Amino acid sequence: MKNLGMVWVLLCSTVVFGQKVDVPLDKAQKMQWFKDAKLGIFIHWGLYSVNGIDESWSFFNGYISHKDYLKQTKGFTAKNYDPGQWVSLIKESGAKYAVITSKHHEGFALWDSKFGNFNAVRHAAAKKDVLSPFVSALRKEGLKVGIYYSLPDWSHPDYTHFTRDSLRYTIAEAPKRWQKFLDDYQGQLKELSQRYDPDLYWFDGDWEHPSEAWQAPKVRKMLLDHNPMALLNSRLKDEGDYDTPEQGMPITRPKNPYWELCMTMNNSWGYQKNDKDYKSLDQLIGIFTDVMGNGGNLLLGIGPKGDGSLPKEQEELLQGLGRWTNKHKEAIYGTVAGIPKEHFYGASTLSKDKKILYLFVKGNANGEVVLRGLKNDIHRIWVVGEGTKLSHKVVGKVYWSQYPGIKYISLPEHVLDRNMTVLALLLDGEIRLYREDGAVIESN
Ligand code: GLC
Repeated sequence: MKNLGMVWVLLCSTVVFGQKVDVPLDKAQKMQWFKDAKLGIFIHWGLYSVNGIDESWSFFNGYISHKDYLKQTKGFTAKNYDPGQWVSLIKESGAKYAVITSKHHEGFALWDSKFGNFNAVRHAAAKKDVLSPFVSALRKEGLKVGIYYSLPDWSHPDYTHFTRDSLRYTIAEAPKRWQKFLDDYQGQLKELSQRYDPDLYWFDGDWEHPSEAWQAPKVRKMLLDHNPMALLNSRLKDEGDYDTPEQGMPITRPKNPYWELCMTMNNSWGYQKNDKDYKSLDQLIGIFTDVMGNGGNLLLGIGPKGDGSLPKEQEELLQGLGRWTNKHKEAIYGTVAGIPKEHFYGASTLSKDKKILYLFVKGNANGEVVLRGLKNDIHRIWVVGEGTKLSHKVVGKVYWSQYPGIKYISLPEHVLDRNMTVLALLLDGEIRLYREDGAVIESN
């Protein structure tokens, strides 16, 4: 009994899809800033930003030789790199954190690592550490710092894989050689943790070896011994704190309440001149609201050029996002997942106390927003970021049934936002939903 009591104290619950999921309290506390943040910016910057080819994969999959891939070091000049400008744009977009590729699968490090020479200082035209000033700029602006780190290093002479068709060796054949690689990669992580003390580590590439081979639990321990509050994404095998669906937005609400969708603005992570296939601002906002409505974060990709400047299209999308997030901040930050889609055919969020429901309304909704099965009375409805009070009407409520009827909110055209309108509904208490099969006669 005593033990059970302890467990109860250590648990708090969060509602996922109508089911209660218990999570340890310390984890909930540690994850809080991340849950509240909603939007992060993912920066892929490295050699691949020069020729406009796929990051690392282009040589791994044989579209270019390794030798030619490496020639991009000449074009990685960083001569127009202004980390302060990146950060102010990131801040303007409404993102609360950024994650930058400190080293992608090809092994090129953005900082002055003492493990090997393959880095921006010693092996590129930039001839300088480009990671440190970015981290400092993020800290200066009060944004959280996320560091992406690829476990595989396909250029490292002691790493197993070189390209898709050529393996240097297997761990079973040469465990000592593997140990040399482990020392280097863990050494680099130690450098990153001591130098930058990131709020979040974004691992990648764990699929190439099992957890024991990476020594994943040891790495987790090393990083958390340095900073117990640091978050780790799921790609350190089973040692992560949150899931990372990539490109594909979850259609149904994920069971794990901790997740982040990483997604490109066009079809490439790094800068590719030829890729003009950008998502529209409306599409990005639509995806962002769907993600928030299901309790997740969006980690939106940008890819600066080799000289450090940002493509115009990306700047404009970040600014457009910023106008919208700034206007609607009360419906975004610090909210929790919204109501199931049967009640409202769109995305929604709730204030933490669950007394304010935020509805994300696309288009003009034909002048009327429909809400089904809401048991609460609505005290007040207003247009977020604009203030106009709206009226509503309850239809189909009969006195002899618990069925709450259908609520119709009238939405005049002049209050519509140009991308996505947001309505706030102040309820008479914590939200209550009617989820029965239908109204049956109780008395008449
Ligand atoms: C993938 C790819 C990589 C990209 C990453 C971003 O795992 O290997 O190229 O950087 O996803 O999520």
